[in-house]
Amino acid sequence: MGTVALIIILFLSVFFISCSSSTRSEYEMKLLYEGWLVEHHKNYNDLFEKDKRYEIFKDNLKYIDEHNAGNHTYQLGLNLFADLTVDEYQNNDLGFNPLSKMNMTYKVSSRYMLDKGEELKLPNSVDWREKGAVTHVKNQGKCNSSWAFTTIATIESLNKIVTGELISLSEQELIDCYRKGCGRDDPVKAFEFIILNHGIDTAEDYPYRAVYSKCDLSKKKKKVVSINGYVLGPFNNENAMKGGGGKATCYWRC
Ligand SMILES: *[C@@H]1O[C@H](CO)[C@@H](O)[C@H](O)[C@H]1NC(C)=O
Ligand SMILES: *[C@@H]1O[C@H](CO)[C@@H](O)[C@H](O)[C@H]1NC(C)=O
Ligand SMILES: *[C@@H]1O[C@H](CO)[C@@H](O)[C@H](O)[C@H]1NC(C)=O
Repeated sequence: MGTVALIIILFLSVFFISCSSSTRSEYEMKLLYEGWLVEHHKNYNDLFEKDKRYEIFKDNLKYIDEHNAGNHTYQLGLNLFADLTVDEYQNNDLGFNPLSKMNMTYKVSSRYMLDKGEELKLPNSVDWREKGAVTHVKNQGKCNSSWAFTTIATIESLNKIVTGELISLSEQELIDCYRKGCGRDDPVKAFEFIILNHGIDTAEDYPYRAVYSKCDLSKKKKKVVSINGYVLGPFNNENAMKGGGGKATCYWRC
């Protein structure tokens, strides 16, 4: 059974690569769908649902093919959301709840400011993935916990840039010990928790479960990476991100 599934998936991959830019036959799309169902462990309760999802899947596949045939800097592929409509996907409560959406006055703390007349020489773009400063894509499951992933991803990359080590850190620790449950929250508050907690554990040590479990700070849980402050920058202001001219709000001992 395992071997058969593997062969089908391999076959589908080859098929996919060789046919990806041409129009697909119904048979080919059906094969892709069946392979996708196996790959993502999808089980629909009734045939009607399976057919309905197949129609949506085909729509998404068409969108992916059209995009990939164009001249873009990125390619699309089938992931576990491929049987959802755009509306269904957007109706997911991913969990971002910014408490800090109030009127903010931005002020850059001195350590981020350049001397008058000094010009910062920066490349036009940086791909942090090429520099190994981004962990793998993670899946938050049904926990509405995007805020935790936002905070953790930022700290993971910061840690790599500062120490040279890329370590996957624990979103679950934030869910269990800061929020004490699944649900929406604010990434900014999660930064504050990590400061007060004197650090955060690795994902290996404190793995993601997508459900609340009792906070486990005791025992052998380590505080592997810590931060001592954070700056909330103005939205969509590249100049401020460069540290020149713009203003940002500095929180906590900047
Ligand atoms: C594709 O896009 C790149 C970058 O925008 C451009 O330099 C190139 O000429 C484009 N190629 C075609 C075939 O349009
Ligand atoms: C921001 O400030 C303006 C002017 O003081 C006010 O009208 C507005 O309601 C404020 N917005 C928020 C989100 O507090
Ligand atoms: C996630 O959010 C949705 C929509 O607000 C809600 O129905 C659901 O119960 C939430 N789930 C969790 C685990 O918080």
